[in-house]
Amino acid sequence: MELMEGLLTRRSVRQYTNQKVSPADITDIVKAAMYAPSARNQQVWEFVVITDQDKLAQFSAGLPSAPMAKTAAFAVAVCADLNRAASPEYWEQDCAAAMQNMLLACHAKGIGSVWVGMHPHEEREDVVKKVCHIPENIKIHSLMIAGYPEKPAQEAQRFHEEYIHQNEWKD
Ligand SMILES: Cc1cc2nc3c(=O)[nH]c(=O)nc-3n(C[C@H](O)[C@H](O)[C@H](O)COP(=O)(O)O)c2cc1C
Repeated sequence: MELMEGLLTRRSVRQYTNQKVSPADITDIVKAAMYAPSARNQQVWEFVVITDQDKLAQFSAGLPSAPMAKTAAFAVAVCADLNRAASPEYWEQDCAAAMQNMLLACHAKGIGSVWVGMHPHEEREDVVKKVCHIPENIKIHSLMIAGYPEKPAQEAQRFHEEYIHQNEWKD
């Protein structure tokens, strides 16, 4: 898939078939995250890949915003270890870029995915920490839930020329 086409056709997918995703594809998807830009190239991210169906069901039960987890093929928790940060104030932006790369890598492979927000909702981070035994000092930025789509996604129409300002802000 051409990059621009991928950018314009990616949608959140919350309904999945029961087809598994290969470990090689999952590794490629996490690899894409690691190629995201980060402040001072600090790469403070860490990734927890979850394929265990019982853990996915626990996400579904514990996270009201992620009921789709129980039918997913896998999830990836985008985490950060701020002990490794050179510019700690940018960790959220770095992790967001990593998440977006994963969503696009999934899309390129015909895998559907959705970004589930975690930080700054500590109660959500705690669910993921508990299920995956993640140390207290590690931040949970977001959770990607993914699997092969049950149906094709509808294309969005989001281009708004009026949101573009040429050289100066004009109403
Ligand atoms: C920071 C962030 C948090 C989100 N959290 C959730 C979530 O908890 N549950 C969910 O189903 N979708 C979540 N989404 C997905 C958005 O609902 C979705 O991206 C948005 O409606 C646009 O639709 P699209 O992704 O199909 O283009 C989140 C997206 C972002 C960027």
